[in-house]
Amino acid sequence: MPDAETSAARPAPVKRDDIPGWFFSLDRAAFGHLLSAQSAAGVTGDILELGSYLGRSAVLLGDHLQPGERLTVCDLFDSEAGDADNAAEMAMSYRKTLTRSAFEANYLAFHRELPEIVQAPTSVLADGRIPAGSCRFVHVDASHLYEHVAGDIAVARSALAEDGLVALDDYRSEHTPGVSAAVWEAVFIGGLRPVLLTPMKFYGTWGDAAAVREVLLRRDWRAGGYTVDEDTIAGSAVVRLNYQVKPPVERSTSRRLALDLLPPVATRATRRMLRTLRERRAAPPVPNA
Ligand SMILES: C[S@@+](CC[C@H](N)C(=O)[O-])C[C@H]1O[C@@H](n2cnc3c(N)ncnc32)[C@H](O)[C@@H]1O
Repeated sequence: MPDAETSAARPAPVKRDDIPGWFFSLDRAAFGHLLSAQSAAGVTGDILELGSYLGRSAVLLGDHLQPGERLTVCDLFDSEAGDADNAAEMAMSYRKTLTRSAFEANYLAFHRELPEIVQAPTSVLADGRIPAGSCRFVHVDASHLYEHVAGDIAVARSALAEDGLVALDDYRSEHTPGVSAAVWEAVFIGGLRPVLLTPMKFYGTWGDAAAVREVLLRRDWRAGGYTVDEDTIAGSAVVRLNYQVKPPVERSTSRRLALDLLPPVATRATRRMLRTLRERRAAPPVPNA
């Protein structure tokens, strides 16, 4: 979570990574791979995102729009939430930094045109304004409350074309049990087929899961620094991707010599700094969004 600095104080992003948010390299790679594979196979359709925050994931979704396709994003931005629990979530995680104009400025730093923006609770999308079967990809990353996520998954299901894909954020985080409940309910009762699990996101389809799996395994994820595992969940084969943890680097002779020659206070400070750097590198990001 970015610090309590206001978005107004932030300079325009130069790189996509400059946009604050919770969209990290593995899911960026997974979105890119799946969306590119759809386009390469001639699959067309709109893209929908529920929960955009400052645009980190929306910018990537916009990168993949083909002529005639539309990206719609739905977020409260600086509007009031519809209920007290959602208002508490907003106050705790987003209010200090999030405005619609900050989202728009970030998006326009990378794209000529804004997406279709629905500034409202995601529940408004249940009114059918997203035509049924019109989307090829839906990213659900808004409220973490069970009732909301269950509604968001229903919106995704109706919006998606037959072999469309849904990515569901925070399906297994300690602080988001409501998301887990809604996701696994969709699997066991709603017919959603899991295809890919990453530390942050669940990917599924109500269409041909085996075809998506085949597309996923076409890429050499290990060469990109990720681990690949395959699991079966109640008869459904699912790919699991994660970050490779690099083995600790052997200390070089020059580094050892430098530590030996430095005065003890400087040595202790240097050791502390190196330990912190090592720990940061080893730990995957665990954001509280
Ligand atoms: C985790 S952030 C989204 C992060 C973004 N997708 C990214 O990758 O950086 C969740 C977003 O959902 C929005 N949100 C929370 N509850 C919502 C609701 N009921 N309806 C619409 N948006 C909501 C918040 O305003 C916030 O911007």
